[in-house]
Formats: sequence, C-alpha cells, structure tokens
Amino acid sequence: MIVLVGGEKGGTGKTTIATNLAAKRALAGRDVLLIDTDPQGSANYWAQSRDESEAKPRRVACVQKFGKGLQAEVQDLARRYEDIVIDAGGRDSIELRAALVVANKAYIPIQPSQFDIWTLDRMDELVSSAHGFNPDLKAWVVISRVSTNPSVHESQDAQEILADFSNLALSGVAIHDRIAYRKAARDGLCVDELKPKDVKASEEIEALYVEVFDGR
Ligand SMILES: Nc1ncnc2c1ncn2[C@@H]1O[C@H](COP(=O)(O)OP(=O)(O)OP(=O)(O)O)[C@@H](O)[C@H]1O
Ligand SMILES: [Mg+2]
Repeated sequence: MIVLVGGEKGGTGKTTIATNLAAKRALAGRDVLLIDTDPQGSANYWAQSRDESEAKPRRVACVQKFGKGLQAEVQDLARRYEDIVIDAGGRDSIELRAALVVANKAYIPIQPSQFDIWTLDRMDELVSSAHGFNPDLKAWVVISRVSTNPSVHESQDAQEILADFSNLALSGVAIHDRIAYRKAARDGLCVDELKPKDVKASEEIEALYVEVFDGR
C-alpha cells in the first residue's frame, strides 16, 4: 500500500506520524520504504538516527526524493516494496501533488489551532484534482497534536465541519501532544519502542496504524 502523510501546513506532525507508521510496519515484518520529500530531510534524519541507535531496532529503509519525477519513482519503488510511506508537505509542493497522484491513501494531519475552512478547502481542492488521475485515492484528516488537557475541546466540531468537504473524511483517531513523540523522534524510534513506554501514545498510534493498514 502507498500511504501519503502530507499537507501544506508546517509542523502539524507529518513526519512524526509517517515515521511512527513506517516503524510499526517494519516491526510487523513488512518490507516498508519511507520516502522523504522534504528538503529539510527530517524523516531521513530520523532513519539515520535509527540506524545508529544502540537499541538496534528493525531497520526502516528511507530515501529522499524531490521534484516532478517523484510519481514515476514511487510507482517503480512500489513494485519492490510491500508498503511505501511518503512524508510530503509544503505549500504548493510539487512532491505533495505528485504523491497524491500515486497514493492509495492520504492522511493529512491538522493541528486543532489550524483546523480552519481555508486549510481544509485547499486540501479538498488538491485531493479533488488528484482524483482526475487517481480516482481511488481516499483522504482523511487526522487531528494532530491535540492537547491532553481534558478541558480543551478544540477538535469536537471537526466531524461537522468536515461534512462540507466531499473529498475529505475524518480519521477515527486523534493524535495528542505527548512528550513520547518527541523522545521517540530524537532516537529514530516509534513510540512503541520507547522505554518506559507511554501506553496512551502507543495505543493511539496503534489505532491509527490499524485504520491506515486496514488492520492487516
Ligand atoms: N503528537 C505530538 N506530540 C508532541 N510533539 C509532537 C507531536 N507531533 C509532532 N510533534 C513535534 O512537533 C514538531 C513538528 O512535528 P513534525 O516534524 O512531525 O511536523 P511536520 O508536519 O513534519 O513539520 P514540517 O512541516 O516542518 O515538515 C517536532 O518537534 C515534533 O517532535
Ligand atoms: Mg516534516
């Protein structure tokens, strides 16, 4: 399966989610490739830290790809890997558009503070134009970096707002702001591999993983 974790907004947790999904896929014994299309190279850097980790976690292959050729390259790589997770973002990014054309599923992390009509409108449009080439593409918005403070209900109305967008569904999972994600990122790990483990982080990523990979 080709999964895109993408979106135009910065800092929404794209790389965090992409690396966690890729690591969990590798831990499940799948042959997975992580594709980093961001010139900042944070996913690639994560994969390098993973290779250097003393804990010797299962390796996640990662390549950096930029530019228009991405579409053809992903199609080629999809023949060699069981799963591909693409980390793509940035405003008007060629890579984001190309990835939408080849992905089976797109997950778009949005922070509650950026959960506005403008952001959703743009993503809805991008998915809609990708549908011209990739009619089977399905796209979900995943609310990310949600405050763990129970008095904050920022993402409650999300379902209602999303009902107005024909190309976007709401993921059944919300990813909360937890230190575990930052710690795991630093060491090239996924939250499941942290010791001690943050059970809540592991549980929500597992729920997202099951949703993304259809429980397989
Ligand atoms: N759920 C989370 N809980 C805590 N920290 C998080 C979470 N998600 C992301 N972060 C932190 O927020 C910052 C931005 O996250 P990340 O790099 O995953 O976002 P991004 O969308 O890939 O950003 P960019 O647009 O720069 O590529 C990082 O420092 C990351 O560790
Ligand atoms: Mg990133």
